[in-house]
Amino acid sequence: MTINRREWINKSAKLALGASLSSRFLSGAVAQPLGRASAPPRRFPAHFLWGAATAAHQVEGNNINSDNWLLERAPNTMYKEPSGDACDHYHLYEQDINQLADLGFNAYRFSIEWARIEPEKGSFSRAELEHYRRMLEACHRRGLTPLVTYSHFTAPRWFAYQGAWENPESSDLFARYCEKSTAHLGDLIGYAATFNEPDIPSLLHWANFPNLPAGMDLAGIMAAQKGALRKYLNAPDFSSFLIGDAGKTRENMMAAHTKGKSAIKSSKNIPVGLTVAMEDDQPEGADSRFAEKQSDVYGPWLNLARQDDFIGVQTYTRSRIASKALSPPQGAELTQMGYEFYPESLEHTVRFAAKESGVPVIVTENGVATEDDTRRIEYIRRALAGLKRCMDDGIVVRGYICWSLLDNFEWIFGFTPKFGLIAVDRQTQKRTVKPSAVMLGKIAKANSL
Ligand code: BGC
Repeated sequence: MTINRREWINKSAKLALGASLSSRFLSGAVAQPLGRASAPPRRFPAHFLWGAATAAHQVEGNNINSDNWLLERAPNTMYKEPSGDACDHYHLYEQDINQLADLGFNAYRFSIEWARIEPEKGSFSRAELEHYRRMLEACHRRGLTPLVTYSHFTAPRWFAYQGAWENPESSDLFARYCEKSTAHLGDLIGYAATFNEPDIPSLLHWANFPNLPAGMDLAGIMAAQKGALRKYLNAPDFSSFLIGDAGKTRENMMAAHTKGKSAIKSSKNIPVGLTVAMEDDQPEGADSRFAEKQSDVYGPWLNLARQDDFIGVQTYTRSRIASKALSPPQGAELTQMGYEFYPESLEHTVRFAAKESGVPVIVTENGVATEDDTRRIEYIRRALAGLKRCMDDGIVVRGYICWSLLDNFEWIFGFTPKFGLIAVDRQTQKRTVKPSAVMLGKIAKANSL
């Protein structure tokens, strides 16, 4: 069923994109009153966004024009396995969106795929834009506010061959893609994020990934991959987000955010922000480089976000910082990623991001990789209790979006880590709702813990 644009504009005014919501959002300041005296302690504010997230490459399948498709197939690739059909969300999106709504959620965060929308430089695919329009329409039909990320790690291959984010032209190329996409989709988008976690290349220099082979650091592995790929592809400028030079990537992505945001706003005045990967950094010892890490990794982005409509906070664990990041304490419970099970990171990072950016927060990712769904339930409950404490202290938080809707392609780690609220049998593509999805859906429906 197709629904015309005007009908959606009218509908969306009544639904979660309501005029009141968006104007309140745009004027939102950290000190917005939350009616602390009147709100029962476990209740969340009206219109609070409760959702789950995915990213195109991790769930859609067959993202063959993307840089990642190449990376996954290169000799000696750092990827455990290729993404292949992933969760075939490209075809099964409607069933997945309906399931999310049936569970009681009111928001869906997903990304549109630049490599599909602009498969060759300057050639935009109307058919692919229509695909994302249908996804957005499916959200609205079920009362889900769509939060759309324009770039979630992947990019078109042609962009990678030209140096990806190391290319000085990258910010203009990104802005043009933002402009074309928003012109086609903007009337249906609730909240737009230019980038997902553009601070990752810097964070990789600090992070301690316990699952890596002894003596190897991730930034070093990434740099080696880039050299090998350039040789293999005979492409001297080839680069990609995760393997890019952190300094150049940051400079160009910061410019791209600013230009991309203007391009989006020139088409449609939707709330625009970006999302930041945050560890809950905790100083250890006298020689702790904690402050240095915070200003290197998050500082530039939280500062840039001061001009935005919101900041997306994404966190999974804490990191104890001495002169370098320490391993999780002896005996700590570890997740499938090897991270310390530490749901309190949400409260701490939300407080930090709100203070540094001064704009409303949306938790755009939070969750845990585990085969034991009872631990996911525990994780989410504790994380939400901390989030509520932030809000009771007057911090403006607009929503909680769990990572992830589906068990999906966890980048270099393949399909092994299970972040999903819903399990996916990758042979049959059959979905199975986990108890954590039911639990969080109930909280969403009640808008209360
Ligand atoms: C990313 C997701 C990823 C998740 C879990 C975030 O860094 O945005 O793409 O799957 O963390 O590791």
